[in-house]
Amino acid sequence: MRIVLVGPPGAGKGTQATRLAEKLSIPHISTGDLFRANISRQTDLGKLAKSYMDAGNLVPDEVTIAMAKDRMEQPDAENGFLLDGFPRNVSQAEALDELLQTEGIELDAVLDLEAPEDEVVKRIAGRRICRKDSAHVFHVTYSPPKKEGVCDVCGGELYQRDDDSEETVRTRLEVYHTQTEPIIDYYKSQGLVVTIEAMGPVEEVTRRALAALKRDA
Ligand code: AP5
Ligand code: ZN
Repeated sequence: MRIVLVGPPGAGKGTQATRLAEKLSIPHISTGDLFRANISRQTDLGKLAKSYMDAGNLVPDEVTIAMAKDRMEQPDAENGFLLDGFPRNVSQAEALDELLQTEGIELDAVLDLEAPEDEVVKRIAGRRICRKDSAHVFHVTYSPPKKEGVCDVCGGELYQRDDDSEETVRTRLEVYHTQTEPIIDYYKSQGLVVTIEAMGPVEEVTRRALAALKRDA
């Protein structure tokens, strides 16, 4: 399957993408994670991306599209992928369409995670991520680690993302409404959008997502 995941910051895209990718046996491709990996390796791309990310703005399309394309062309993505955080505006959606057309492939669905603003703000404020593996995500109240500041899975140190400050979160939400939400209408016109409620326990949201994708087995 080829799926695009959309939703406001903190809706639980990364959390659900990790679970869905495993259940559907497709790679989870997160442009946010790819940028963060570049930042920790201190690459030129990482240095460029960091200034935009810390301010809560989108990284320029040219570098983002090139990075996403490169990742989608890896052998493990040949038979499907779950895109998390890409595309994030209409020009990226158009670039993705072009890329898929060249390859003679199509998207199966665009999964839209809906969550109210006060909830996403709470989720972001309490999020803690493992330094060793960004797929190990915790929340100080909703899914606390057994030992404060330490990853349950691998023992890595837990940290708070630089762009999770209250001020930056406001900018990210505004950017989501003005630049990313329009892609939902773009994909609605292609009949691809399935919307699910992202409130409730993580497992319940995954069940809803699989049912919406008609993969509830
Ligand atoms: P990115 O990394 O994509 O961040 P985002 O879209 O803002 O989303 P988040 O990672 O904040 O949230 P999420 O929805 O994944 O939530 P999570 O599962 O962690 O992008 C960061 C930046 O990179 C952008 O601002 C931009 O600068 C740049 N960028 C990335 N892609 C780009 C692109 N295509 N173009 C240009 N720039 C780009 O969950 C949040 C918390 O809630 C966690 O603590 C989790 O444990 C908890 N939680 C999750 N689900 C539940 C639940 N059901 N109940 C209770 N708690 C829950
Ligand atoms: Zn870990």
